[in-house]
Amino acid sequence: MAKLKLPKAGTIEVVPSVLSADFANLADEIGIITSAGVRVVHLDVMDGHFVPNITIGPPVIAKLRKVSELVFDAHLMISEPERYAERFVEAGANHITFHIEVAKNPPKLIDKLHQLGCTAGLCLNPETPVDSIRDFAPLCDMVLVMTVHPGFGGQEFMPEAAKKIAQIRKIVGPDVRIEVDGGIDPETTPIVVSYGADTLVAGNAIFGQTDRIAAINAIRDAFNA
Ligand code: DX5
Ligand code: ZN
Repeated sequence: MAKLKLPKAGTIEVVPSVLSADFANLADEIGIITSAGVRVVHLDVMDGHFVPNITIGPPVIAKLRKVSELVFDAHLMISEPERYAERFVEAGANHITFHIEVAKNPPKLIDKLHQLGCTAGLCLNPETPVDSIRDFAPLCDMVLVMTVHPGFGGQEFMPEAAKKIAQIRKIVGPDVRIEVDGGIDPETTPIVVSYGADTLVAGNAIFGQTDRIAAINAIRDAFNA
């Protein structure tokens, strides 16, 4: 398999988060979104410490790697990203996002991920200011803006947090992707795209619907409108 890479900036991508999928049928769920033409899948990793919830780790990602050729976008909501990042790359993650709130030396981890052949991203929580990533955002392949408090799917979109997307777009220019995560659906999509987001994570708006493919297309229609 050719090395999977995050699509180059310049396209708008709908990136389903499997957090709201049927975990007993994860391979089938990923098969469905693949048939909708999705290129990237968002895998939420939670440690019960940085966030008050626990999800999946490297063993599950390694199994999924055997059944999917989608780009794996791992969102590490964990307290010690430096300690575990390499294990996620070995398991098959192609892009790794870690949180600025807990990062000890962001440029060092970004560099390490690049050396491991993985793209890298920083994430900020809704209350974290843009200034915290100002110096590091240009080193990232993608910056992730949370528009809910991380930990759970199906929460309400926070419009104030989304405004940071426009500030970050000014800092990074057109070549770094800006991903947005939390409460993205056909109604909130035009807002975040107008601010400059190009990578739209959606969990509940896709896997909370009976027809996942129609749900993906509804988000696409919302930015093509
Ligand atoms: C939340 C996760 C999200 C989550 C989004 O902490 O990081 O990726 O799945 O879910 P929705 O789209 O339902 O807000
Ligand atoms: Zn996420």
